[in-house]
Amino acid sequence: MCGIVGYIGNRPAAPIVLDGLAKLEYRGYDSAGIAVFDGDKINVVKTAGRLKALEELTHDGQTTPGFVGIGHTRWATHGAPNDTNAHPHFNEQETIAVVHNGIIENYTQIKEKLVNKGYHFASDTDTEVLVQLIDYYYKGNPLEAITKVMHRVEGSYALGIMFADHPENVYAVRKDSPLVVGKSDEGCFIASDVPAILKYTRDIYFIDNQEVVVLEQGNVRFYSVDEEEIKKESTHIEWDAEAVAKGGYEHFMMKEMHEQPKAVKETFEKHLNGNEIVVDELKLSDDEIRALKKIHIVACGTAYHAGIAAKYIIEKMARVPVEVDTASEFRYRDPIIEEGALVIVISQSGETADTLQALRDSKKKGANVMAIVNVVGSSIAREADSVMYTWAGPEIAVASTKAYSAQLIALYLIAMKFARARSTVSEEEFINILTDLKKLPDQIELLLGNKERIQRFANRYVGAKSIFFIGRGLDYSLSLEGSLKLKEISYVHSEGYAAGELKHGPISLIEEGTLVMAALTQEDLYAKTVSNIKEVKARGAFVLALTNTGHSDIEDTADYVIYIPVTNRYFTNSLAIIPLQLFAYYVAVGKGCDVDKPRNLAKSVTVE
Ligand code: AGP
Repeated sequence: MCGIVGYIGNRPAAPIVLDGLAKLEYRGYDSAGIAVFDGDKINVVKTAGRLKALEELTHDGQTTPGFVGIGHTRWATHGAPNDTNAHPHFNEQETIAVVHNGIIENYTQIKEKLVNKGYHFASDTDTEVLVQLIDYYYKGNPLEAITKVMHRVEGSYALGIMFADHPENVYAVRKDSPLVVGKSDEGCFIASDVPAILKYTRDIYFIDNQEVVVLEQGNVRFYSVDEEEIKKESTHIEWDAEAVAKGGYEHFMMKEMHEQPKAVKETFEKHLNGNEIVVDELKLSDDEIRALKKIHIVACGTAYHAGIAAKYIIEKMARVPVEVDTASEFRYRDPIIEEGALVIVISQSGETADTLQALRDSKKKGANVMAIVNVVGSSIAREADSVMYTWAGPEIAVASTKAYSAQLIALYLIAMKFARARSTVSEEEFINILTDLKKLPDQIELLLGNKERIQRFANRYVGAKSIFFIGRGLDYSLSLEGSLKLKEISYVHSEGYAAGELKHGPISLIEEGTLVMAALTQEDLYAKTVSNIKEVKARGAFVLALTNTGHSDIEDTADYVIYIPVTNRYFTNSLAIIPLQLFAYYVAVGKGCDVDKPRNLAKSVTVE
């Protein structure tokens, strides 16, 4: 997704803006640009390619002097990733500059009207319509022009805006795309995400939808779309800049895989008060939990895979029917949400457009919505009825690892809380489950210590064309996640498949030497999956079996075995995912892929 940084203060703006954009590279982009007021006019420099190209063009900001600036990394939606379409965009007189994250849904209609009024457009972007429309409404009052545009355009936008005749200000607007504001003695900042400005300030303001921000020298003002001034309190951010640095690892993904024991431990510790499970902001009484007839879980990507695992666990443990949907499907199928149903949305970033809209649609249908989110103050966290934070810390790598592990913990705790409230587990069972939960960090640590063996195995498959991941029950949800990890960072095609389903078609794809990663952590399904292993082996597959320590019998059937420590049957994904994450990582490294910033992908998909 696009990244925005803006600054006004007593220091040169360009180096601060470029440094902030570098912290946002993880969001994924294909061009970059900067606009700085030099005391007389706004200078814009922009280019296709990586941020490094912009740094070279501006000699690290030296050629764009000034104390007021905005910058942008663009993930192309409308218009090819080239110099012309890069942001910032100017109005024709080059007196207004705009950077934008999001999509303007009605930009073609507006563009047509502006062309008919004599406006000329240089780019193919929706963003240029914004700056031309601001120009159209601008009569000397920036706030008035901006709010008129907000009433006119449809879609999502986080904007940074500069006016050459108002160099004492930077303006920003937020609707559905993320935007934060920072303030320090050295100046005021806007950014798409906290890491971009954490080096300069810990005092962050989270902007709500349809709010306008006016950065001044040493002050920040907030306004509604009706130009009424709003008072906002800042939040003091606790985590440190180190959290968004690589910490000596080659990639953020490896660092974050190694942070999983801590992410898991922090997430359950923050939600336990003795043996009591505490959900951060829970608007659901025990009576309402006992009366629950249905739970919908809605998410995207890895978060969706955590939701599928939760279905098996909540249904088995708490005996509540659970329906799991991808948010992009849920929001367009006019879902039937029963009276009193609970909708759980899961999102690492808390800004995923489809998940945010699914939350809003669910609330419109009268559902009680709980969010499991990793980013404090994110849109989804602020709009849900109840929130359960995952304490994984900032996840920079596009491929989600520690956030997934923390989401599983949050979902385990919800299942346990519900099971206890509904008396579907005895107190003794509950304590045993809790004891097993607390062992997970050390067991994850143990598996991470096994990475060299995984690396050697992965190196054999750097040239693979297609790999299968199969399992039953929880192992099916695990297979989906293992397959996604491999696909998204190594670009090797793979399928996560229900082991029992292969014979209904996909088994025709199994050839001599096809790698099949078979997960057998569920004791009650073990024998069934062994049969599936024999099915694929009979067609030439090479099978890696992922199973619980103690099942050495599997060595008579599988070609290669990875054992995970014995844990509670509900928690096996938390352990079995570790070797699969490492496998995907090493195949991607072996192929020379950009592990942290895979092609075509963004860390937070804030557009549909
Ligand atoms: C997973 O590795 C990907 N980064 C992607 O599938 C991600 O899980 C998905 O886009 C959802 O993001 P969210 O958790 O921030 O909503």
